[in-house]
Amino acid sequence: MNAPHILVLNGPNLSRLGKREPGIYGHRTLTDINAALEAAFPDVSFEFFQSEDEGEIIERLYDSEDRRSCAGVVLNAGALTHYSIALRDAISAVTLPVVEVHLSNIYAREEFRSKSVISAVCRGVVSGFGEASYHLGVQALLSLAEEGPKQ
Ligand code: DQA
Repeated sequence: MNAPHILVLNGPNLSRLGKREPGIYGHRTLTDINAALEAAFPDVSFEFFQSEDEGEIIERLYDSEDRRSCAGVVLNAGALTHYSIALRDAISAVTLPVVEVHLSNIYAREEFRSKSVISAVCRGVVSGFGEASYHLGVQALLSLAEEGPKQ
């Protein structure tokens, strides 16, 4: 079997991990987090993409859908989670499974973070486990790929 291909997609401000509010998001950079994923899942072929730009995130999602070889997407949409109907519509428009992940527990923070406009169109949500949220997201996609297509 070919190595499953997974897109790890990060939205605005996640480029600042390591420097950004370390008490909430930890000291590890996005590069550290991505390298740890590659080390933990040597049989997965990863593609990593981060952008501060909503449109670029949406375009990358469509690229993955069109390439057809992608098993799914682990998405930390950052603040787009809470207000981007455009991103929600894009997730709805693709058939790829998308797992929403967050480093922090968005339900245990400010009120405005407890609303995600994308959760309902994602396959599932992992929130609050720090870097491990990404690993759990990958694990979820691998389990789905093993299950095969739904009847
Ligand atoms: C975040 C949570 C969001 O509320 C926030 O806007 C982020 C990061 C997280 O990973 O915990 O940028 O998605």
